[in-house]
Amino acid sequence: MAKKIIITIDGWSSCGKSTLAKQLAKKLGYVYVDSGAMYRAITLYFLRNHIDWTDTKQVEDALKEIHLDFHFNEKAQSSEMFLNDENVEYVIRDLVVAEKVSDVAAIREVRTFAVAQQQKMGRKKGIVMDGRDIGTVVFPKAELKIFMTADNAVRVERRFKELYEKNPNITIEEVKSNLEMRDYIDSHREVSPLRQAEDALILDNTNITQEQQLHKAMGWVEERLH
Ligand code: DC
Repeated sequence: MAKKIIITIDGWSSCGKSTLAKQLAKKLGYVYVDSGAMYRAITLYFLRNHIDWTDTKQVEDALKEIHLDFHFNEKAQSSEMFLNDENVEYVIRDLVVAEKVSDVAAIREVRTFAVAQQQKMGRKKGIVMDGRDIGTVVFPKAELKIFMTADNAVRVERRFKELYEKNPNITIEEVKSNLEMRDYIDSHREVSPLRQAEDALILDNTNITQEQQLHKAMGWVEERLH
């Protein structure tokens, strides 16, 4: 049987982690897991149910009511996030969720809950997972760890274009301040802050195309497979 590995992709918000992860998964026939979607879905549940996430008891009780699942959408050729059997793939991308997700993702109980499920998904290997702590905490022994980065202005522009398609009222300032805030909270929190794993390879995609970035990453994959 062909050798299968675990590929982790960590990095700052909106630097193209999921694009690369999806491309790699498709090329290799691997499962793609968007770990950020899980933190977004939990945040959505907390917002809808008015959970006070500064109260540990409320958080623990709420987590017992949350069931997260990924379903592959054949038509879209991508996996979608389901929260208690509801497809929330689109609503979790709203700025309302993005504004709170870093606070929720900083809660220890929330991370324990999400990380346990992520590790279970990687048991059989053959997986590409992107996030902030995948190479450092979720799969510290992964065969290939990539740390992605890109210039701030480029990241803001990319995320703005993405969100503007859904909401033409959004401003570039709103997007910029949300990205800066999330990067700050994600890299300064006490539990599993965003940081580059010592054995991660850096991929800066400020000035390269998606094809070039895939080519580079596939080169690293080949090295590990042979
Ligand atoms: O990748 P994303 O932008 O969809 O992630 C949403 C938020 O979730 C991000 O601001 C930080 C958090 N996150 C995290 O703390 N750990 C992960 N493994 C993935 C995401």
